[in-house]
Amino acid sequence: MRLLSALLPAATCAFALVIEPTAGHIRDSVALSNIHRPSVFSWLRKQSSILTATEDGSEDADFVAWLSLQSALSFEGILANIGPHGANVAGQNVKPGVVVASPSREHPNYFYYWVRDGAITMRALVDEYEMTGNASVKAIIDAYVDNVRSTQWTSNPSGQFGRGGLGEPKFEVDGRAFVGTWGRPQRDGPALRAITLISYVRALQHHGASIDSLNYLYDLIKPDLEYTSKFWASPGFDLWEEQEGLHFFTAMVQYKALLLGEQVSSDFSDQGAARWYHIQANGVKQFLLSFWDEERGYIVETLATARSGLDAALLLGAIHGGSETVFPMHSDMVIASLQALVADMRLRYPVNLQDSYDSNDVPAAVGIGRYPEDVYSGGDLINSELGNPWFLCTAAVAHTLYGLVEYLALSNTGLMITNLTADFYLPFISRTIEPDYYDFSASAAWSRSATILGFKPGSRETEQVISNIFHYADGFLKIVRKHSDAEGNMSEQFDRQTGFMRGASQLTWSFESVLGAIKMRQRAVEAIKKRRAYYKRF
Ligand code: NOJ
Ligand code: NOJ
Repeated sequence: MRLLSALLPAATCAFALVIEPTAGHIRDSVALSNIHRPSVFSWLRKQSSILTATEDGSEDADFVAWLSLQSALSFEGILANIGPHGANVAGQNVKPGVVVASPSREHPNYFYYWVRDGAITMRALVDEYEMTGNASVKAIIDAYVDNVRSTQWTSNPSGQFGRGGLGEPKFEVDGRAFVGTWGRPQRDGPALRAITLISYVRALQHHGASIDSLNYLYDLIKPDLEYTSKFWASPGFDLWEEQEGLHFFTAMVQYKALLLGEQVSSDFSDQGAARWYHIQANGVKQFLLSFWDEERGYIVETLATARSGLDAALLLGAIHGGSETVFPMHSDMVIASLQALVADMRLRYPVNLQDSYDSNDVPAAVGIGRYPEDVYSGGDLINSELGNPWFLCTAAVAHTLYGLVEYLALSNTGLMITNLTADFYLPFISRTIEPDYYDFSASAAWSRSATILGFKPGSRETEQVISNIFHYADGFLKIVRKHSDAEGNMSEQFDRQTGFMRGASQLTWSFESVLGAIKMRQRAVEAIKKRRAYYKRF
């Protein structure tokens, strides 16, 4: 916080100091009511510098060109790591359809098949197939599908088929069990795989397949749904493979798998299963609420953790597991968590200090790591005890913000700012403009979820804020661009000090995450276009 003050113009700083509820861990509502009310009010009155738009309708041509180039290169990067023919893995005994995490074989050795990385990556290929009907992409997905059964049936240190074996996080690339010591089980894998396989069912239907012809897929989906429905309340290791416990990311993807599972099992006339998944999905939905930490003002990744709980996994949970009613990317709780995470990361890595605020005082994007306490340097031998920003975590912030932009652009309720999201929104709002609605009463200030400021849809202010957030999101992809190389390569991490790539090279998941963010950006652009056509003056 002290560092942040030094970087901010004095006036903004006064505002940041009093308004940021997470910074001081304000505990009682008396403090909240005393602090919030006058400060937002005087902030609105006193500030004179207008946060002008970085947007004037014209796009940054270099950036747009990079987006399309990087999409293509990311896709190639993914294919290069899939067996048996991918350019990085050919001739190395990689089973057809196996997704290798990275070609790196030492410092670190990532030449393995992680169920999580594989499912997330295949999901991107399924989306591509759904959109284009491309036959060679389909062939790769089919190879993955062919391999699912043998992965599920391979006995491993987590257990056997039907006896916990599906919780195994990682396999040898030739399909054998990995028998070394590891953080196991990890219970997100089956859920992610079910989500991917169910999307494949939908994609095939979209291209004309009858549900009856897809029973072979349901046979693979069902064991993953059964596992998910039976073990969601049991502790396991988190997606970063370090902490044993109950995790937000894991529960989010479990919820989504069960939600989709209810529908798909009913489509396959398995009504008993549909009812069971429905009940379990409701259980997970309730359970997910326990990750909201009212005192801290953000979601925590792991229950009862000794860590802060802030984590890029919160955003990954919303990206891969969010649904309209349960922690969608645009929900206040997710946005408040994003804000708290970015605020931490902004100060955490020296490389970020270069770009803390741009010339217009609009917060600049920064590199994002996994979580504040991370010390994993990616297996390199230099500075091996310090965590770094990650490509996939930085892309996750962009992705989430584009999700918010799409939502705001498609909604006709205007901009509603609550105590919870004030830290996030206020820097995007020009300070001379009167809100259309405000409520700084003690009762509003007492509750985190109370709306304190509102701007009408179609008002200059609302439209400007949407556009400001869109540019803020672009900033995170520009960070990705800055630290990747000219061939579009991305490792796992980039150095906290120098920004140079480090950790596993050509990480499959890095490529997927950037591809996913760029696709979400496209949706945000479409939504903004629609909105501009509707509110003609913009
Ligand atoms: C390898 C894991 O994959 C990574 O997530 C973890 O941080 C390190 N081991 C250190 O435990
Ligand atoms: C380490 C990451 O923490 C984990 O999430 C990932 O599955 C593996 N690396 C493989 O990329």
